[in-house]
Amino acid sequence: MGMLRTLRAVVRLRRPERSRSVRRLRSAANVEDLRRMARRRLPAGVFDYIDGGAEDESALRRNTGSFAAVGFRPRVLRGLGEMDTSTTLLGRPLAFPLVLAPTGFTRIADPAGELAVLRAAGRAGIPFTLSTMGTRSIEECAAAASADARLWFQVYAWRDRDLIRSMVERAAAAGFEAICLTVDTAMLGRRERDVRRGLTLPPEIGPGTFLDGLRHPGWTWRFLRSDPIRFANVEGAGSDRVGGAPGDGSTAVDLSAYMNSQFDHGLSWKDVGWLRSIWDGPVLVKGIQTVADAVLAVEHGVDAVVLSNHGGRQLDGAPAPFDLVPEVVDAVGGRTEVICDGGVRRGSDIVKAVAAGATATMGGRLFLYALAAAGEEGVDHVLELLRSGTERTMALVGASSVDELGAELLEWS
Ligand code: FNR
Ligand code: LAC
Repeated sequence: MGMLRTLRAVVRLRRPERSRSVRRLRSAANVEDLRRMARRRLPAGVFDYIDGGAEDESALRRNTGSFAAVGFRPRVLRGLGEMDTSTTLLGRPLAFPLVLAPTGFTRIADPAGELAVLRAAGRAGIPFTLSTMGTRSIEECAAAASADARLWFQVYAWRDRDLIRSMVERAAAAGFEAICLTVDTAMLGRRERDVRRGLTLPPEIGPGTFLDGLRHPGWTWRFLRSDPIRFANVEGAGSDRVGGAPGDGSTAVDLSAYMNSQFDHGLSWKDVGWLRSIWDGPVLVKGIQTVADAVLAVEHGVDAVVLSNHGGRQLDGAPAPFDLVPEVVDAVGGRTEVICDGGVRRGSDIVKAVAAGATATMGGRLFLYALAAAGEEGVDHVLELLRSGTERTMALVGASSVDELGAELLEWS
């Protein structure tokens, strides 16, 4: 009896979790676990579109490798106060230094798509960026967001400037906070996994992909049952003919042919000025990859530069954004905010970027894997992993607030 009581005192029986997906999620300890779950759940072509990078994927590997190559010089016995991971970005509070990056075609990971991701971002107290190539419209996103949610809109340089103007006006009317111009996409990078698979967006269930679909019945069922995937922000803008007016994605397209025909590689700093003139709020430029361009961005009045190589999907051999942080912050820190985008997989990566001088980080695949693995609950789960990982790493390096994170805590090899 006494023994049983003692045992009861130390062993708490956990109530069995009924939902299979929640059970599986509990066993996902990190982003890599979610990536593996996503790989099992998604048709191979869809997984490869999300997971892959350009050409030899060296930029993709470099992004994560650059974080792994830097260690900490932790301080101890610092009498830490209450832990506080919050910071400010564009003058508004952020629960921890992460912003969700714009990703096209989010609903191919799971039909819940953008709406699930933005609700999870809202609950986590961090901004969500809707892509121009998003599969929910500006208005649908605004309607699903809570009152205090921070929504940003990412702009691509369509040849048709009226299309950009109308999207920007819609984002303003819908209460979006900021616009983020992506500038690393003069042409679409060559993602060779997609070339091999003949990927179209939305994915076509044709003879080549039929078997793959059968092997992933859950995804295929959800995909066929939900409303069709389309470029919700381009809708009504014309036909789907490549080379003609931009289509809305209701017909499957080859992404690189589509984007190369619709996007303007004549984009220049003049256009940044034009965007400023049609949008009252903050303007971010995403895809800065040198100190020289970061300086130009400041000279053109940009509110934040996003150091990014598009997650290694554009120019292979591009520098890893994290490696650029110290020199860019040296050159423009204090005059603009610097966001480090790409390769973030752990809270410790976020702490490293901030200690190196970034205001915040941005990440894409981290939430796409989670969304594909377990829908909206998956995104909640990964954001909590990253938040708690940030807090824990801060405690272990001896900092109780983001202000206390500095370069002296990092050990560059
Ligand atoms: C992207 N990215 C992206 N960027 C952008 O400005 N507009 C877009 O539509 C997309 N689409 C997109 C789709 C997918 C599937 C991925 C993985 C990425 C790039 C994205 O915003 C971000 O720069 C990277 O995802 C950062 O790298 P990590 O966090 O994925 O390592
Ligand atoms: C991509 C585009 C949509 O990276 O930006 O796939």
